[in-house]
Amino acid sequence: MSKRGAAKTVIALDGPAGSGKSTVASMLAERLAYLHADSGAIYRTLTLAWMERMGEGLSPEDFGRLATADKLRPEELGVEVRLVEGRQSNCLNGVDVGARIRTPQVTARIRYIADMRACRDVVNAQLRSFARVADLVVDGRDIGSVVFPETPYKFYLDASVQVRAERRQGEFQRGGAQVGMEQLAREIHERDEQDRARPFGALRQAEDAILIDTSLLSPNDVVHRLLSYLQIQF
Ligand code: CDP
Repeated sequence: MSKRGAAKTVIALDGPAGSGKSTVASMLAERLAYLHADSGAIYRTLTLAWMERMGEGLSPEDFGRLATADKLRPEELGVEVRLVEGRQSNCLNGVDVGARIRTPQVTARIRYIADMRACRDVVNAQLRSFARVADLVVDGRDIGSVVFPETPYKFYLDASVQVRAERRQGEFQRGGAQVGMEQLAREIHERDEQDRARPFGALRQAEDAILIDTSLLSPNDVVHRLLSYLQIQF
């Protein structure tokens, strides 16, 4: 669906944790036969790599202190992002990390990695290299504002903290874990603050992004909305 010769189309989906970006990005990419580029997964893989490098048992704070003090060089961590059968494969030392990046331990430490300019530069370069070879749906925090500011296709998905916490609880329950709503709402609120306060690459709605509140919408509803906006724009 690229309009201008070889130029690839990039659809940017930004928003806070639990706004539904990842689910919707993957469904939309499937519908359009685009590549789904998951920027959070690359930050997660860098975090896991640094956790393994530092050894088990470091508190999140010590992890963060060491990563900053050591001037962590992300290029040396053995992280590589590949395209395998039209999908993003996040590899550490040549092996796909799968669900190992989705643990609460990784989530508790990722902010230190996501705050580091060197890590953000590596992730952004990777996403831009995808855009040279494929049409993309990219989900993240700063995709429309920093990584692909030139794309005309920008959306910002949001939902109330309550709804986002309920969604997280559903995910935990499906994985067999019980986590209380109060704790989840508190964690989501904290992550929003961290994501918004970041000096570079902070979570924010780009001025020209279309805002969709997903609180009362199913993933299918959101995809339909996105498609109708895109048909107007394409
Ligand atoms: O789906 P969820 O919001 O839990 O996480 P994610 O999209 O995998 O992102 C995890 C964390 O990575 C976020 O809380 C951000 O701190 C960071 N991140 C970022 O800084 N910039 C991005 N483009 C994507 C993620």
